[in-house]
Amino acid sequence: MSLIAVFSDLHGNTPALRAFLAEIDAVGPDLVVNLGDIASGGVDPRGTMALLATRPEILTVRGNHERQLTTLEREEMSAADQLAFDTLDGATLDRLGALPTSLEIAPGVLAFHGSPADDLCYLLETVDPAVPGGLRESTDEEVLTRLGTHARRYGVYLCGHTHLQRIRRLPDGALVVNPGSLGWPAFADSDPHPHRVEAGSPRARYALLRSTADGWEVSARSLEYDVEAAATLAEDHGRDDIAHALRTGRASSAGPSSRAALPLVAAEASAYLSADEVVRSDAPEVIALAHELRGDATDDVAFAKAAYTWVRDRVTHSVDAQDPRRTVSATEVLRHRTGVCFAKSHLLAALLRAGGVPAGLCYQRLGDGDGHVLHGLVAVHLDGRWHRIDARGNNAHVDARFTLYRERLAWVADPAAGEVDYPQVFVRPAPEVVAALRGSHDMLELCRTGLPTALDPGLAGRV
Ligand SMILES: [Fe+2]
Ligand SMILES: [Fe+2]
Repeated sequence: MSLIAVFSDLHGNTPALRAFLAEIDAVGPDLVVNLGDIASGGVDPRGTMALLATRPEILTVRGNHERQLTTLEREEMSAADQLAFDTLDGATLDRLGALPTSLEIAPGVLAFHGSPADDLCYLLETVDPAVPGGLRESTDEEVLTRLGTHARRYGVYLCGHTHLQRIRRLPDGALVVNPGSLGWPAFADSDPHPHRVEAGSPRARYALLRSTADGWEVSARSLEYDVEAAATLAEDHGRDDIAHALRTGRASSAGPSSRAALPLVAAEASAYLSADEVVRSDAPEVIALAHELRGDATDDVAFAKAAYTWVRDRVTHSVDAQDPRRTVSATEVLRHRTGVCFAKSHLLAALLRAGGVPAGLCYQRLGDGDGHVLHGLVAVHLDGRWHRIDARGNNAHVDARFTLYRERLAWVADPAAGEVDYPQVFVRPAPEVVAALRGSHDMLELCRTGLPTALDPGLAGRV
């Protein structure tokens, strides 16, 4: 064994993995080792696992995230694990959970994720509230204690988990190598004290080990990859914090800007493809626009995002534009390019249905002055489940996005203030909403005084 490539903490970053595989294909190592934290994150768990499946020769140990995916209840999982849990099939999850916790990948070379006995242990760094950033390099004594009974028995220890690239020589001459993170260069954590881990640049890190007559020689490597592709996927999953880390190599102090998705109640997805007199997915002009938006999209997710963005940004909200014209049906909204939240939802649902993607109508009850008003949004069926998206239109106070699995809506309902997230995905618009819109000639006047304040309770059990 003369040349070994080692990577760790990929965290579902398929673009980084693709660049790494291309690079090592050129280098031609005898062995490739993956130190765990493979799919969980905010980018692309399924694409990562599909790409790794083409490389069965890679030796892999289990990270804490692989353990968490198969031992925790979904509600106990972090958002990073929930995305992997929601998007990977059971057989893949089982395979990840069954990976070994450590491997002697070559004589005298031990590979593991955190420490040999603990996948959550920081080996070469120590969380210390007394230092700036909350993290310092570990002392030799600390490293040896964490290696436990494995100390002084190997010539090379390969670890990951902290995401920081380091090569360290211990007093007995042994090397400890953390290749850094291939796919998530920075994060902030609060356990056991607040600390930040930052590679400082967006490059993907790994390490190469070469055996020489004098022992192992290690080089810390980094490579450029399509960071923007990875960051955009993170944004599509509602993880602006991860997108920021990917683009900068710095941890975002903001944390996730999205929220866990509301569990929704819906009929069979196929019921949400038909046209009605409001959701006019059968109208030629709606079909034509859906076809145009479908043209540049590589898959249903890309098409749905294009349709969402078009309706959010190219159709004004009546109030934002101070445009009183009444629009109700998808065709009216498309013709006049304006509408209130309900009307814009009718167009978005129609476009999605016309493009073959099931879409339904959702509602929230939100505070408005001293009272409440109903608000309309859309649920779209992608990746085998429903996701709420809100194309109301952004302004100085609203920054809604197209996200899957986590929600980035225009507003968050606060139950303590009498606000409601209705969990139903309706096939047809709520009749009281259509009646209110049809009954008014001035959308600005309607928004001031005439909007429904709640859904008809009779609708609650139906979709
Ligand atoms: Fe990690
Ligand atoms: Fe980890």
